[in-house]
Amino acid sequence: MTQSLIELRNVKHYYNGRLVLNVPYLDIFSNKITILLGPNASGKSTLLRLINMLEQPGEGNIYFKDVDIIRLSREKRLELQRQMVMVFQRPVLLNATLFENVAFGLHLRGMDSKIIEKRVEEVLKFMKLDHLADRSATRLSGGEVQLAAIARGLAVNPELLILDEPMNNLDPRHVKLLEQTVLDISRERDMSIIIVTHQIPQVSRMADEVVLLEEGEVIESGPAEEIFNNPQKEFTREFIGGII
Ligand SMILES: Nc1ncnc2c1ncn2[C@@H]1O[C@H](COP(=O)(O)OP(=O)(O)OP(=O)(O)O)[C@@H](O)[C@H]1O
Ligand SMILES: [Mg+2]
Repeated sequence: MTQSLIELRNVKHYYNGRLVLNVPYLDIFSNKITILLGPNASGKSTLLRLINMLEQPGEGNIYFKDVDIIRLSREKRLELQRQMVMVFQRPVLLNATLFENVAFGLHLRGMDSKIIEKRVEEVLKFMKLDHLADRSATRLSGGEVQLAAIARGLAVNPELLILDEPMNNLDPRHVKLLEQTVLDISRERDMSIIIVTHQIPQVSRMADEVVLLEEGEVIESGPAEEIFNNPQKEFTREFIGGII
């Protein structure tokens, strides 16, 4: 049975009095890959920031595993936030080695250093970054930074992994590698994944579910197959057809 991991109800979010997100109803499902689509400035990153509790919506409710994440105590919020990882559109690494960057979140979670070492080595290997472990993050290429940020997120084994345009800066070979990695993770671990992308072909290669935003509103959402084969809205047809 498909279970909702995140539920948005009557969510509205404003910047400087301007409504940028207006979502009466949206569910994101557990253990699925959800691809979030939409033109520039349609509210994708804003939606992700609300889900990740970096901001609180102006109005409405958001539930994570049935817990209302709005107006939580600081302690409770941190506890929930630790179950999610968001890799930003423009990730920033610490001025430290790649190894230390990937270990950072594990130290924050108070893990034993021997276990941390093992976990970091595993993740770097999995992401094919192990040869760069001792390299200073300031000396990584744009694409390597992108992959390192994902490795840092994976290391903490979150329940929800949010990737905001993770394929930016990657060449076609690395895009393919990352797609496969995400598919492997989703298959092997109980991890829910939300990905923002502008690459439509990725939807058919990766998505279980699709959410399409325009001007802060969900135009259409549902199983990827249905959205692709039987879109209900003209906008969806044009967006997927590459006209928009
Ligand atoms: N902190 C902020 N203050 C004011 N306006 C903001 C802020 N963050 C985002 N916005 C505005 O909210 C709207 C939605 O932005 P958002 O970053 O969510 O879009 P997006 O769909 O992620 O776009 P892109 O594909 O370009 O990343 C845009 O008009 C943007 O200018
Ligand atoms: Mg964005």
